[in-house]
Amino acid sequence: MSQLTNGDAWQNLIKLKNKYQKLSIRDLFDNQPDRANRYSFQLDDLLIDLSKNLINQEIVDGLMKLAQEANLSHQIQSLFRGDKLNYTEDRPALHFLLRDQSSSPFILDGKDLKLPVKRVLQQMKDFSQKINQGQLLGYTGQVIKNIVNIGIGGSDLGPESVYLALSDYANPKLTIRFISNIDHDNFYSVLRDLDPAVTIFLISSKTFLTDETMTNALSAKAWLNDKLGPESFKDHFFAITTQPFQAERFGIVSDHIFEFWDWVGGRYSVCSAIGLIIAISIGWSNFQEFLKGFYQIDQHFKTTPLTANIPVLLALISLWYHNFWDFRTEAIIPYSYHLSWLPTYLQQAVMESNGKNINRQGQVVDYLTAPVVWGQSGTNAQHAFFQLFHQGTEIVPVDFIGFMTSSHDNLKHRTKLLANMLAQAQALAFGQTDQVVDVNRQFFGNRPSNIFLAKSLNPKALGQIIGLYEAKIFCQGVIWQINSFDQYGVELGKKLANQIENQFYQSDHNFNFDQSTNLLLDYINNKPEF
Ligand code: F6P
Repeated sequence: MSQLTNGDAWQNLIKLKNKYQKLSIRDLFDNQPDRANRYSFQLDDLLIDLSKNLINQEIVDGLMKLAQEANLSHQIQSLFRGDKLNYTEDRPALHFLLRDQSSSPFILDGKDLKLPVKRVLQQMKDFSQKINQGQLLGYTGQVIKNIVNIGIGGSDLGPESVYLALSDYANPKLTIRFISNIDHDNFYSVLRDLDPAVTIFLISSKTFLTDETMTNALSAKAWLNDKLGPESFKDHFFAITTQPFQAERFGIVSDHIFEFWDWVGGRYSVCSAIGLIIAISIGWSNFQEFLKGFYQIDQHFKTTPLTANIPVLLALISLWYHNFWDFRTEAIIPYSYHLSWLPTYLQQAVMESNGKNINRQGQVVDYLTAPVVWGQSGTNAQHAFFQLFHQGTEIVPVDFIGFMTSSHDNLKHRTKLLANMLAQAQALAFGQTDQVVDVNRQFFGNRPSNIFLAKSLNPKALGQIIGLYEAKIFCQGVIWQINSFDQYGVELGKKLANQIENQFYQSDHNFNFDQSTNLLLDYINNKPEF
C-alpha cells in the first residue's frame, strides 16, 4: 500500500464513502435550506456553484484533511516561490509569472525573471499593434492580413481554442488560421485560399523540434518559395520558441523570434508568446484583460485559505468522485458556441499533466490519477451523449460553464440556452422518480455537477476559467504525489513513429516490428498476407 492510500486521511475517506454510500443530493438540499448559498462562491464576475455535489460538511472536512496531509498549502507556496516542482526535468513551473500584474521583481538564482517576460510582452505588443495598424508589409510590399499559426499540442490548443472563444473580439480585417495536424489535408485546407503575399507564419514550438510542426513549417516554406520565391521567406516567417538558435538555424531572422522559457510547460503556455496569435487577433488591451483574469485566479489560489479556495475545492471534489466513488470520467460542457474547443484544450491540460502512474518516490501508484476528461458545447451535447448522463450506468460529474449574456445577444436564445443548462444540472441532481408510471422514464438523479456562471464570455472571464482549471490540476497532482509538469508518456510513440517512418517503404518488405505492425505495413505496401 502506498503512503497516500495508507494515510489516515485516505482511510477516513474510504470510511466516509461507505458511511454515505446512499447520500442523496435531494436530501442534502431538503435538510440544509442554505445549502446553495453555502456552497456557492463568487470571484469577481464569476459565480461557482458547488452545491449539487455529493458532499456534506463531514466529507469536506475529510477532504481538507487529505489536502493537509499532502501539505497542499505548502506546495502552493512552493509553486509560487519557484521551487523546482518539475523534479524529473529539474526546473520550476513558473507560468504564473507570464501574467503577474504586480510591480515586484521575481528573483531566482540571482536573476529577475520578470525582466525577460516584460521584454517579450513589449515585443508582442509592438508586433500585434503593427499588424492591426496595417503596418506590417510582406515581401512584395503588401499589407499582411493573414496569420497562420503552425504548432501542435500546447503550441496550438490554447491559442486556437482561445482565438475561437474570443472570435467576437477579433479584428475582422485579419484572417487567422491554424495548422497543427501532420495530415496534409490540414495544411491544404488552411492555405488553399490564402494569398502568400499577405500571409505570415508563426512557427510555434517550445522545442522547435516537434515533427508535426517542423514538417508543416518546411511545407509552408516550400509553399511560399513556390509562390513568391526563396527571398520571401525572411519577411513571412516568425518563430515562438524557447530555442531561438533552432529557429535561427531554420532561417528565421533573430528579430522575428519571440522567446519563452523552459519553465513554461507547453500546456501552460497560452499566456506566453505562444498566445501571440490571440493578441494579434483580439488586440493588445483585450489580451491584457485575458492575462488579468489568470492573475486574479493566481492571487486567489495563492492567498485564500484552503477551505474557501475555489480551485482547491474543485480539485478535492473531483478527487472524491474519482478515487472514492470510482467515477472514471469528467465532462466539461460549456453552454457557449464559441467554447466548443475548450474541452479539447482542457483535456490536454488535465490528462497530459496528471495522466501519470509513477509517484514522487518513483513507485507505481496504487490509486487512480487523472480522470478521462471530455466534453462538447451545450446544447448540442444534450442531443449527443446526455442520455448516458441521465440514465446510463456510468456516473459522469459535469462542469457546466454558462454566461449571462452573449456578444450577439438575443433574449429568446439566451434565455433558452441558460434555461437548458440549469435544467440539465437540475435533472441530473434531482432526477424524477415520483409520478412515474413507466419505468423507462425514470430518472434516478443524484448525479453531481458544478456550475460556473460568468457575466459574459469576455477575455478576463476566459482567463479566470482556464486559470481555475490550471490550479485545480496542480492541487490534484500534489495529492496524487505525481509530477504534473513533465510528459514522458508521449515519447515512446514519437520514437516508434520515427522507426516505422524510416522503414515505411523499404523495398524488401522485411519489416522488423511486431507481427501486427508488420502485417499492417505489408498491407499498406499492397502485399496483404491474409
Ligand atoms: O507531445 C506532447 C508535447 O510535448 C506537448 O507537451 C507540447 O505541448 C507539444 O508536444 C508541442 O511541443 P512543442 O511546443 O515543443 O512543439
